[in-house]
Amino acid sequence: MVVSSITTAGGIFRQEFDISWGDDRGKILNDGKLLTLSLDKTSGSGFQSKNEYLFGMIDMQLKLVPGNSAGTVTTYYLSSQGPTHDEIDFEFLGNLSGDPYTLHTNVFSQGKGNREQQFKLWFDPTNNYHTYSLLWNPQHIIFYVDATPIRQFRNNEKNGVPYPNKQPMKIYSSIWDAEDWATRGGIVKTDWTNAPFIASYRNFNADACVRSSGVSKCNTTGWLTQQLDSANQKRMKWVQKNFMIYNYCTDFKRFPQGLPTECTI
Ligand SMILES: *[C@@H]1O[C@H](CO)[C@@H](O)[C@H](O)[C@H]1NC(C)=O
Repeated sequence: MVVSSITTAGGIFRQEFDISWGDDRGKILNDGKLLTLSLDKTSGSGFQSKNEYLFGMIDMQLKLVPGNSAGTVTTYYLSSQGPTHDEIDFEFLGNLSGDPYTLHTNVFSQGKGNREQQFKLWFDPTNNYHTYSLLWNPQHIIFYVDATPIRQFRNNEKNGVPYPNKQPMKIYSSIWDAEDWATRGGIVKTDWTNAPFIASYRNFNADACVRSSGVSKCNTTGWLTQQLDSANQKRMKWVQKNFMIYNYCTDFKRFPQGLPTECTI
């Protein structure tokens, strides 16, 4: 699925991203091939893409904070601006050494989110780099982990569910302290003796439509019409059956008035 493209070959972080906050806690290293974000007691840090995108197949490899990462949250997401913004989220909730990270996902369309799904991973995301991808095209959004689809959000505009297809989005990432809620609902706090907490990024690739002054410049390699074939549907079911730990679509207590429309189609 990773088709390298001329514009982003080698994942040149300096060309594609700005460290947006956290001063020198965000670093671009190794000739622009590696990016690291760090968190200490004073501050976290973050980066954002220079480009805005309207649809794409976007890959990034992340290695998460090793050891005791309880209380920390590493985010990696697409977002537009403004009160009715669209957003597609990966968030990694840290944990005590040996306890599993939680991968939290969400989709906002026109300012409305509340579409959380959470997963455990089938590997230790702190040992090595793993690829987290978003396919975002007019038909659907698919979240992938190492090329395995874990979540699909379909375009259900015809059923009255807003879909992100008008607002260009930038890519963002950050690491910050969320000890009030991140780990076991806030029971486990951040242990600052382990600081700085460092997340690492490499091999960024975007086969995407880059938006500039209202015009899209697209690098299409099939992703614009890409569907989930039956083998991939099976794999997604396997993940959801074995690794999903929360699904808003089955949370009847939370939606006593009835589940959101996209959950019932
Ligand atoms: C951390 O580990 C505990 C124990 O396995 C688990 O209940 C929890 O869901 C894990 N993740 C977070 C983010 O708390």
